[in-house]
This record gives sequence, structure tokens and C-alpha cells, in this order.
Amino acid sequence: MQMTEKDFIPKIYSKTIESGSYTWSAPSNIALVKYWGKKAHQIPENPSVSFTLNNCKTTTKLSFSKKENLNSFSFEVFLDGEEKDDFKPKIETFFKRIEAYLPFLRYYHFKIETSNTFPHSSGIASSASGMSALALCLMSVEKELSEVISDEFFNQKASFLARLGSGSACRSIEGDLIVWGTHTEIDGSSDLFGIKYPFEVHQNFKNYQDTILLVDKGEKQVSSTIGHDLMHNHPFAQRRFEQAHANLSKFITIFKTGDLDTFVKLVESEALTLHSMMMTSMPYFILMKPNTLEIINKIWAYRNRTRSKICFTLDAGANVHVLYPESEKESVLEFIKNELVVYCQNGHYICDQIGFGANQIQL
Ligand code: PMV
Repeated sequence: MQMTEKDFIPKIYSKTIESGSYTWSAPSNIALVKYWGKKAHQIPENPSVSFTLNNCKTTTKLSFSKKENLNSFSFEVFLDGEEKDDFKPKIETFFKRIEAYLPFLRYYHFKIETSNTFPHSSGIASSASGMSALALCLMSVEKELSEVISDEFFNQKASFLARLGSGSACRSIEGDLIVWGTHTEIDGSSDLFGIKYPFEVHQNFKNYQDTILLVDKGEKQVSSTIGHDLMHNHPFAQRRFEQAHANLSKFITIFKTGDLDTFVKLVESEALTLHSMMMTSMPYFILMKPNTLEIINKIWAYRNRTRSKICFTLDAGANVHVLYPESEKESVLEFIKNELVVYCQNGHYICDQIGFGANQIQL
């Protein structure tokens, strides 16, 4: 049975609690088929599939205590122990969007203490890991207030809530491959939340590596919210959305057979298509930097030279995710150190690999 928004509105809570705290650690994720373009309420225009990461994570502690005044939300936010008032508008918007699904939000004052394993100004978006960690903490509160919540529903609703914070965050609850968005060949796929990829995955993808080259650590010049909006009235949008459906079908075969040559082509094509959409919107913009292109060309030359299965993908930014099978770990790291690190800002890069999702931390 297809879940609808209504299924996430809770019945009256059976319990009351005065105060408490929960801590969750949630990973970032990297899309292979990209999500770019959305409808109202963070509904994606096309399905996407991603690798959950392992080392790039946000840890969030949510402390809560009952308050009297129910007229507004009340919360404070800390990043690495420092109060961060500039995070507040995003969280206020998030709370407004999810209030219908978590009616307890007005009853408590919240203290949100968060930290990332990756440097804050690394150009790595913390919104996916951050929103999913917060959504999981909120679900822990709901679980304590409710009679019974199954693990499956817990994860589904955490993903549903995270999506309302930042679309791609709904792919950061579980691992190791997550599909978000309805696709005819994937039973149970939904626009409302991410699901674990349900089919066979070849050994070639086990412990798949992702080394993130930090080309530009600055703030993005164009936020993804604006970028998604520019897909409305975009001349190529409809064709792009169809292509994403077709590419996801192709990935089903690739994951099954372990065909890395086709994987490489499709992953890179998706990354360049994402950036082509940005370059052909009105207004147009370019998020790649000269060093992004230098790295891409070096990767292509290395692949031609060595028959390696290395490839790149990109987020909405200049940083490059270098993907490769575990069997090539040593040689590719050597190549990265010798030839690619010069293009990274201050020589910074992060070694990561495919991971299995968020964890609750018992303090
Ligand atoms: O989650 P958002 O709204 O920040 O969108 C991110 C979209 C991309 O990272 C560019 C692609 C994706 O599917 O993650």
C-alpha cells in the first residue's frame, strides 16, 4: 500500500514527558542519479539514487524540556559549542513544515547541539547529514511519547521529515544504497521518503570508495533552493526528468551485473547533466571552478592510461567526489596524492566510502 502524507500524522500521544535528550549521528550521501528540480512540499521531479557515506557525518544532541507558552517554537542552536543564530531561520522553517507531523514541537524548548566530522567551511553541504540527524532526534522524542513505533516506520518517518528540511537529506537515514522518488521498476519507491535499494547489488560495489577533493571551500554562490527553482520553465527540464527515470533503470542492471564501465559512464554523465542544467537555466550559473575541470581531465587521462574504473561525480558545487572500487584503493590514492591534491584548496581532501546509515549515540 502506498504511504501518503496523512500516514505520518500521529494520533494523540499516549504518554507525557517533562524533559530528556537524544543524540544521533547521520551521514552525508552522494547521488549517482541526481535530484535537481522539485514540486511543492519538497516533492522531487525525478527519482534519484545515492551512496550513503561513512565518515562525513553530523552528530546532533537534542535536549528538550516542557515549556508553558505554546504560541511559538522555542529553540537554541550550537555548532561545536558556539551559539549559531544564523542557523535559526532554516530550523524555524523546518519546524513550520513538520509541525503537522510532530504536534509536540510547540510543547518543548529545544537545545540543538551539533558538530560535523568534516570542516564547517569545506564546501561539503552539511544540510543532508544535519537535517537527517535532527529528524532522527525528533523521532526519538516521538517514539518516547507514543505507544509503539516499528523500526521500519521510525526510519520512514525520519526520512519523510528530513526531506522536508532538505530534499536529499531523506537519503541519509539508512544505507548503503538509497532510492528516493517514485520509479515504476522499484516497488515501494516513494516521493515522500527514501528507501533502501531493494535489488541485488554486485560485490564490485562493496566498500566503494569516495575521496572528496575540496576544490573550493567557500559558500556556494547559488543555493540549491534557487537552483531547484530554476528548473521551473527550464527549456530542457522535462527531457531531463525523463532521462533520470531511464538512467535509474540502467543502474538497476549495473548494480546487478557489476558492469563498472557502464557505471563510470552513467555516473559522470549524471554529474555533467546536473551542471548543464545550471548552465542552461535563466539566469544561468556555473558552480565548477577551473580546478574542477583540471581534475576531471586528469581523471580521464589516468583512466585511459591505466584502464582504472575511477570516475568522478559532482554535487551542487566545485568539489569533486572521486569514486572507485575498493580493489583500486592503493593505486588511486597514490594517483590522487601525486596528481590531484595540487588542485585542492590547501591540499585538503577527505577519504570516505559507502556506509550503512545513521546511528543513535547512547551518552
Ligand atoms: O537537498 P538539496 O535541496 O540541497 O539538493 C541537493 C541536490 C544535489 O546534491 C545537487 C543532487 C542530489 O541528488 O543530491
